[in-house]
Amino acid sequence: MAKILGIGNAVLDIVLKVPHAVHDDEEIRASHRHTQIGGNVSNSLYVLAQLGHQTAICTTTGGDSEAKQLINGLKERQIDVEHIQRFIKGRTPTSYVTLNASNGHRAIVHYRDLPELSFEHFAKIEIEEYDWLHFEGRNIDNLKGMLNIAKTFLTHQPISLEVEKPRDGIETLLPQANLIFFSHHYAKAKGHDSAESLLKAMQPQLPNSHLICTWGDQGAWFCTAGHAGIQHQPAKSVSPVVDTLGAGDTFNAAVIHHLLAGDTLDKAVKEATELAALKCQQHGLDKLLEAKQTRKPIAHLNKVTNAKTLVVEAPSIGKSVVLIKYEDQVKAYINNCPHQDVPLNEAYKIDVNPFEKTMKCSVHDAFFRIEDGVCVEGPCWDEALEAVDIQINEQGEIFIV
Ligand code: FRU
Repeated sequence: MAKILGIGNAVLDIVLKVPHAVHDDEEIRASHRHTQIGGNVSNSLYVLAQLGHQTAICTTTGGDSEAKQLINGLKERQIDVEHIQRFIKGRTPTSYVTLNASNGHRAIVHYRDLPELSFEHFAKIEIEEYDWLHFEGRNIDNLKGMLNIAKTFLTHQPISLEVEKPRDGIETLLPQANLIFFSHHYAKAKGHDSAESLLKAMQPQLPNSHLICTWGDQGAWFCTAGHAGIQHQPAKSVSPVVDTLGAGDTFNAAVIHHLLAGDTLDKAVKEATELAALKCQQHGLDKLLEAKQTRKPIAHLNKVTNAKTLVVEAPSIGKSVVLIKYEDQVKAYINNCPHQDVPLNEAYKIDVNPFEKTMKCSVHDAFFRIEDGVCVEGPCWDEALEAVDIQINEQGEIFIV
């Protein structure tokens, strides 16, 4: 286990799950809304904490009520908050995230009205106590000084730097880092059409650093410090993709974890690709490592028909789920009648009327429309079954998302 200090953003992410990407002049409904802790460094630290490390964040927060929520959330994620710089008049940074349920992709609108982390605040931290320092490449003017003192006072501890966006002067920071994560946005903004092209340009200037450039579902290209040549690690193809928010931050955390364990950069990038793929198959970052065991399909498409319901257990949500086809779609509902909170098949099987396109609760004969779960006849008229979001992969396996 190592002690890792992350310097960068902590954000409140307000996530809205929407059926498709939102276009101009459109008004749509989100199926879920929740708030979670985000920000690149904070996400990476959360993953590192799950990988068994002791983590601390150096970031800024406001003096508003959201700041309390943010700090409590960081603590719950086992991230030490001792080095947070609070600005009483500042507002907590917020991201409004739409998560496209059809493909797991996200769009982020970020709002920030908070002073940047000051050099003086960072300079008070006993950085020698840490085994690794990870910086987010933002707040460039102040970061220059922070990296300078890190370079001066640290003897053996590696420094990593995330270069996600092209910011004025960010290139002056690069020689200070032992490991640099470049994003494809940065590469493109610098006129490169591939990760390889960016690394080719960077390697001669930074021969003694590990360099990585990720390129979405094409994978990651990387150069090992002190070695000529560029290597490629293809991304792991996963289906269904349910949530890509924080996948890059997960990748960065896993690379740091494996390098700390003494693995080669090759191995670190390969493992990081696997963990990032796993992340894309679940919502948020909670229990990321447990997900390896629990992500199993609840049923197979070839068992679901229009004529009768299939009732299955969904361990990931701890509930029983009713599956049935409506036209060519699969509908999924929690197996719970809103009338008396009993399973629909409590007394007998759930009868299906293929003409009316309804299914009937076996307890008190409430009829629910298969299309949307609304009760059209019976004791809970106009109430509805709770829909469950599912995805079906190319092999026909059905997953809760
Ligand atoms: C994901 C993320 C979000 C945050 C945004 C900040 O990588 O860190 O959690 O809102 O990016 O730019």
